[in-house]
Amino acid sequence: MFEDGLILKKKFGENNVFDFSLGNPNVEPPAKFYKILRELSLNPPQGIHRYMPNAGYVETRDAIAKQLSKETNILFNSNHITMTCGTGGGLNVIIKTLVNPKDEILIFSPYFVEYLFYIDNHNAKHKIVPTDKNFLPNINALEKAITKKTKMVIINSPNNPSGVVYNENVLSSIGKIIQEKEKLFDTHIYLVSDEPYRKILFDNLRYPQVFPHHIRTIITTSHSKDLALAGERIGYIAINPSIESNKELSNGLTFSNRILGFVNAPALMQNIIPQLQDISVDILDYQNKRDILYNNLTSMGYSIIKPQGAFYIFPKSPIKDDILFAEKLREEKILVVPGSGFGKPGYFRIAYCVDTDMINRSLNGFSNVLKKTN
Ligand SMILES: Cc1ncc(COP(=O)(O)O)c(C=O)c1O
Repeated sequence: MFEDGLILKKKFGENNVFDFSLGNPNVEPPAKFYKILRELSLNPPQGIHRYMPNAGYVETRDAIAKQLSKETNILFNSNHITMTCGTGGGLNVIIKTLVNPKDEILIFSPYFVEYLFYIDNHNAKHKIVPTDKNFLPNINALEKAITKKTKMVIINSPNNPSGVVYNENVLSSIGKIIQEKEKLFDTHIYLVSDEPYRKILFDNLRYPQVFPHHIRTIITTSHSKDLALAGERIGYIAINPSIESNKELSNGLTFSNRILGFVNAPALMQNIIPQLQDISVDILDYQNKRDILYNNLTSMGYSIIKPQGAFYIFPKSPIKDDILFAEKLREEKILVVPGSGFGKPGYFRIAYCVDTDMINRSLNGFSNVLKKTN
């Protein structure tokens, strides 16, 4: 999609192509990020460019633990935190640490497509569980899908590609089913929450925390989206402090962080983010973009579940073949990703982390294609 976008832009001009294909934030990091960066470059602490403890600097992990304790009312300390190269790095570290070859990892469709490759990296097996018409996990299907070999259930809320947020009831149902199955099979099943969009929430929604719903919960997140630092590869893993053998688990995560090839999360970023834990980019700007797209597309006749977070919207394709529909949008120079790419044919994803002006100028195109298909 990325290459295709470049070709189209070269041919028709940057402003005449409406590229909604990538989840790459169009905004800049907050001003405070640059202030700290400037201060660090003028007065670099001695040793800032050297190797560090593999889990990350203690001061950085302390700052994250403090913020997480505030947000969750659960007491975290630096031992529960491992700094990672983004959430992608975090997920690979978690899977490497916990999973044996042929163990099963459950994911819900629509899913972030890289899960399939992360799971394959560690010779595990993915199993896809459907969601309901609101893109919330189908709990009956989850119950049927868990077997003796299930080691992990990965959830992602706010969700890419649907923008849906899992509420407390959903999280509680997932936790209950997992615990029932653990008893039945005498196994341990980890609930892994992939949360890079946890701060991008709309309509004053508070983030429904996953930790209270299952003791074996591990979360991983990053500052790729909330601070618009996607290229800087800074994120972390946090384990539930009450998890059994938490020292052994932390050691495993630290060791996997070291041996997967990235060694540490970037030192410079680890020096900057402690002071940025309670801020984010302008979330209302994303909410405004969500509103423009949701209101306009639904009044044209598109069918959409209203996103509550992240920066994606996932309308139903007006024709059965979502790949063909994406091609028709492309004729209007609108680039989207067909739902098939997320294991959910019949839908398409619009990534609206783009300029508001571009969103407004694209609306005619969406309307034209819908009229042509009716
Ligand atoms: C659902 C989801 N998980 C993980 C990632 C990886 O993010 P990062 O490694 O930049 O934190 C992304 C990136 O788009 C994502 O959408």
